[in-house]
Amino acid sequence: MAKNTVLTLLEMKEKKEKISQVTCYDYTTAQIAEKAGINTVLVGDSLGMTMQGYETTLPVSMDEMVIYGRSVKRGLKDAFLIVDMPFMSYQSSTKKAVESAGRLIKETGANAVKLEGGAIVSAKIKAITDAGIPVCAHIGMTPQSVNAFGGFKVQGKGEENAKRLLKDALEVEKAGAFMCVLECVPPKLASVITQKVKMVTIGIGAGSGCDGQVLVIQDLLGISDQTPKFVKKYANLSEIMTNALIQYDKDVKSGDFPNMEQTYSKSDCSDDFLKKLELL
Ligand code: KIV
Repeated sequence: MAKNTVLTLLEMKEKKEKISQVTCYDYTTAQIAEKAGINTVLVGDSLGMTMQGYETTLPVSMDEMVIYGRSVKRGLKDAFLIVDMPFMSYQSSTKKAVESAGRLIKETGANAVKLEGGAIVSAKIKAITDAGIPVCAHIGMTPQSVNAFGGFKVQGKGEENAKRLLKDALEVEKAGAFMCVLECVPPKLASVITQKVKMVTIGIGAGSGCDGQVLVIQDLLGISDQTPKFVKKYANLSEIMTNALIQYDKDVKSGDFPNMEQTYSKSDCSDDFLKKLELL
């Protein structure tokens, strides 16, 4: 059993210990997140944008979530793995929602699933948790509704919207969610929600008052071209990787790579052997 579980994450909230979460989409990066001691890893459907180059998360399929999800799982040991339910894998019916959640758990080995929406998806959250599957909800700026929002915009501004977001948080918790991502929610509102609920809140663009934080790994590592204001870049991997590839390109072209250090000398064919084959 992984060290991070639903119980330990809820305990962390109680003890006011902050929870780290990062997105991950492949085995190698998952191993690094694990080594760094990240508490929870999210295979977000943001992979549609970060890994596949789409403009939104909408085209991502269940089959793709399974492939990325299980690759990440193989790189983890103690981190708690959450896999996103992609667009239209749960919206049309409660039955479909339970079946999709079950498939993600069975085929990826994830510990929980995440789905977007507040009160409107509470019946689905209840049915999934009734099936024994932990659910992370996601409210505020929910990227699968980008067309309805008219773009990626901060949610919860104004009294009515703030009240609706608080209601959403209370409803998803009542339905059984143990965790909820608050995306692009005004910081004060995110703090109030965090204090009012027992479930863990994970903020992204929602200030420091949440129980934990999540960032898209490409943003955090400085590989993305454009990053929103709420991102802190902890590295500039784009520059490091570009410089490494420029140098590799030069070395290949100049013949500096490979040199003797990168060459297997013991397994080289002897001149006698090559002569025998009439190759010398
Ligand atoms: O898909 C995703 O990566 C997400 C996070 C940004 C919370 O939903």
